[in-house]
Amino acid sequence: MIETARVIRTQPARLGPVLIEASEIAGRVRSIADEIQRDHAHGKVRLLVALKGAWVFAADLARSMEGRVEVDFLRLSSYGDSTESSGQVSISGYEELELSGTRIVVVEDLVDSGRTLHALMKRLRGCGARSVRVAALLSKPSRRIVEVEIDYLGFEIPDRFVVGYGMDLAGAYRHLPDIRTLLPL
Ligand code: IMP
Ligand code: MG
Repeated sequence: MIETARVIRTQPARLGPVLIEASEIAGRVRSIADEIQRDHAHGKVRLLVALKGAWVFAADLARSMEGRVEVDFLRLSSYGDSTESSGQVSISGYEELELSGTRIVVVEDLVDSGRTLHALMKRLRGCGARSVRVAALLSKPSRRIVEVEIDYLGFEIPDRFVVGYGMDLAGAYRHLPDIRTLLPL
């Protein structure tokens, strides 16, 4: 069985079974959109999408929302030891954003150790936004190293490496409609 990102990136793998089907994802994404709209009934929502992994989730989420929505993108990546996020997270695209007075919802694909999200939240502190909330499609609570708050969560999953619905292994599989696990070759 393939577990953590560390394992999967050091051994060859093939596509495994579906963990969450496209139809189930679609239902959850619509519920999250409803929750976000309920919490932001009186103002515009600024979705701040964490690229690349969150691109599909963000596209479906945004299109499930009515009312005033703006969508912006940040490129997040962690460097150092390439097998796990190092806590040294690089954030690009931030300088061009005017966030003062906005109601931000960060859109993330997956919270694993929590380091990436933690770094982004730290960066957003002091940006002058009226509120900053977090929508994450997936969370692996057993992997958490840094505590982070997730306001809107799609699914909790076990410690398995997943691909599809925007998420990749070395650039592959992002286009798959379901979320799938991987198996050893
Ligand atoms: P964290 O900083 O450890 O929480 O890692 C978060 C980021 O690592 C996510 O936003 C993903 O882009 C990536 N990641 C973590 N686990 C997986 C996985 O199982 N599949 C694909 N990407 C993952
Ligand atoms: Mg991500």
